[in-house]
Amino acid sequence: MEGLGLILLGPPGSGKGTQAELFENRLGLKKISTGDILRDAIRKGTELGKLAKEHINRGELVPDDIVVALVEEALKKTSDGYILDGFPRTIEQAKRLDRILEKLGKKLDAAVLFAVPDEEIIKRLSARRVCPKCHAVYNMVTKPPKRDEICDICGTLLIMRDDDKPETVRRRIEVYRRDTEPLVDFYRDRGLLVEVKAVGDPEEVFNFIIGALKR
Ligand code: AP5
Repeated sequence: MEGLGLILLGPPGSGKGTQAELFENRLGLKKISTGDILRDAIRKGTELGKLAKEHINRGELVPDDIVVALVEEALKKTSDGYILDGFPRTIEQAKRLDRILEKLGKKLDAAVLFAVPDEEIIKRLSARRVCPKCHAVYNMVTKPPKRDEICDICGTLLIMRDDDKPETVRRRIEVYRRDTEPLVDFYRDRGLLVEVKAVGDPEEVFNFIIGALKR
């Protein structure tokens, strides 16, 4: 399983970040999360962050040119396998990813699609808390921190993401259906789509994905 090139595809809150973390820790794949990179830029107040914030807080996508450049930079730094969390999100991004991978001599092994019902997404995101420093993800219902609202890993106060407000979550789901769902056929047509039911304990979901990739 080492050295794999994977894309994680799925609606907001479907568990992509949680699984990307497991894949990085257990299989050594380098996690590249466009959402994390953009949120870091927002926190640092950079030009990129100011621009990204306008889009993210409305539940809209950040322009393709920006995220494609970020991913290209990150992929250049990987020497082995990689896992893309939250990229590509449009057909344009997917086509440009193909060109980047070709240029860098890297391969894509699978696009893993996370299937989760909408009501589960709303439930998960309203209970999600994140660490603004180390990006660890918690859930006040299913994965609470040991100390109330404090990150187990680095001791930082946990926060709720600005785009996890219910009205923004609804918009993110609409944008996912309109712009990102067409990627399902894009990767299915190339024989790269691996669909998993992403409900149940994260450990179980991890094992479903490993099983599906082996098949
Ligand atoms: P991004 O950060 O990528 O957000 P997203 O895709 O909407 O996904 P989320 O991070 O909300 O959820 P997730 O699937 O990672 O779930 P998680 O593991 O956290 O992007 C944010 C914004 O940035 C976008 O809206 C856009 O504006 C911009 N952006 C990013 N990439 C872009 C791109 N390529 N192009 C343009 N714009 C881009 O889990 C959610 C919760 O559920 C957690 O609390 C977790 O603990 C819990 N959980 C996880 N798994 C389970 C399970 N199996 N059972 C129960 N609970 C679970």
